[in-house]
Amino acid sequence: MSDLESRELVIGVVGAGAMGAGIAQIAAASGRRVILVDQREGAAEAARTAVLARLEKRVAQGKAERRDVDLVAAKLTVAPDIRAFSGCGLVVEAIVEDLTAKKALFAGLTGILPDDTVLASNTSSLPIGAIAAGLPAPERVAGLHFFNPVPVMKLVEVIRAPATSDRVIDGLMALSRAMGRVPVEVRDTPGFLVNFGGRAFTTEGLAVLSECVATPAQVDAVMRDCCGFRMGPFELMDLTGIDVNYPVTAFVHQSMFSDPRLRSTPLHRYLLDIGHLGRKTGQGFYDYRESADRPAAETRVTGTPAPAVALLEPSDALSTLLSGLAVRVLDEDDGQAPILAAPLGEDCAALSARTGADPRRLVALDLSGDVSRRITLMTSLMAEPAVRDSVVALLGASRAVTVIADSPGFIAQRICAMVANLGCEMAQMGLATPGDIDTAMRLGLNYPRGPLELADAMGPGQVFGILRKLQDLTGDDRYRPSQWLRRRAQLGVSALSA
Ligand code: NAI
Repeated sequence: MSDLESRELVIGVVGAGAMGAGIAQIAAASGRRVILVDQREGAAEAARTAVLARLEKRVAQGKAERRDVDLVAAKLTVAPDIRAFSGCGLVVEAIVEDLTAKKALFAGLTGILPDDTVLASNTSSLPIGAIAAGLPAPERVAGLHFFNPVPVMKLVEVIRAPATSDRVIDGLMALSRAMGRVPVEVRDTPGFLVNFGGRAFTTEGLAVLSECVATPAQVDAVMRDCCGFRMGPFELMDLTGIDVNYPVTAFVHQSMFSDPRLRSTPLHRYLLDIGHLGRKTGQGFYDYRESADRPAAETRVTGTPAPAVALLEPSDALSTLLSGLAVRVLDEDDGQAPILAAPLGEDCAALSARTGADPRRLVALDLSGDVSRRITLMTSLMAEPAVRDSVVALLGASRAVTVIADSPGFIAQRICAMVANLGCEMAQMGLATPGDIDTAMRLGLNYPRGPLELADAMGPGQVFGILRKLQDLTGDDRYRPSQWLRRRAQLGVSALSA
């Protein structure tokens, strides 16, 4: 078996598009010789020129050293076809995403390379096992899934198909580290870790929108300000492009036999159909055209602050919030004051039905995340506007207030519980270690925390409770808790415990 850790390793890269060029760049920057090939005449040379030009620009900006450019210039070469790979210990393919094309390429490679040359695919959706099927020595085939843009994104998923040998996996893990990446080992499964686990954040945002609970701007602002995500689900989808995230969502949903947890909504597909693909077309969930107004996520303060409130149920979080405000907390409901509650997984209708609270004066606050900058507030459909406005005025003096329609789990509880639950499900399926699942989601998707860390931060019991309530109130198995989560919630242990 070739030594993938050796600096003498020669790496062949096939496909000089965005991904192949980036892979060739980081491999050359690690000091290994790289040969880049593309079937389109001139494409490999053009990619090499572009890589060097990008590096030159970084030197001019003081972000890279001259020797970085010299090293890549010396190590990265191009060749007209794959016959140049005869001395390679590893070939990575980043050609068109088509099983027949990839199988044909690997079959051609096995004809000219020794049986111990490792063959890796950068596919984002094709099963590695299917690419390897029928090849001589399938134990040398693995997935090596980089993220775009390759030189910036540190994560690489090393994918193990049933036949892949330990030496190949260990070698690719070590080589990835030598290239300055953070590798995680993943079982060969649709979407691997990141494209699978990433479905919860966006599809639950879409579910909130499809129920007319909140606008995209409201959802995004809540996920940024209260939960620490760098971008909300709608900003993210508009940035990546609906033509990219809709097909991935549909593919993962179909591959998992229509598991309702992974279901999107008709609007997602509709935007694709009408060509509103996000930033790239000027319209998506948002309108980016110059004439367009940026929609507000805040509710304007119109009323006068409520002088007194009653608490529906004792709540430390509510008491802490109110202790910083100029408001009297009544010992008993006086029949007039707003009745405040901080439900988990319940909406105002369910809360009112369970407790008998007056639905006209019931005002629910989401205290599950950080409320120092923004707080989410909801009322029942029977709410008296003046009562609601008096609570908005009370809270709005010190933070933004986002008023949404009645929703079990508001916005943040729903989305965070779904992200945590899908992370737990990935752990239950044994796709990777719990720690690697978190690493992949943090690095691959820029999440502030991995899904299992998120479950721990919220408390596995609380996440489990939110999901059970959502499942009960909506009747939708989309919210069924993962067995991984249930066991850890019931035993009172960390979601990361294996
Ligand atoms: P691309 O379309 O930019 O580049 C593909 C290149 O491969 C083209 O230059 C094309 O001429 C060449 N090519 C096609 N068939 C070939 C063959 N049989 N032999 C030699 N060269 C051939 O594609 P991109 O975006 O770089 O993606 C490449 C692969 O990486 C795909 O499998 C894709 O799913 C995967 N991927 C893409 C990501 C992305 O964000 N673009 C992220 C992670 C994986």
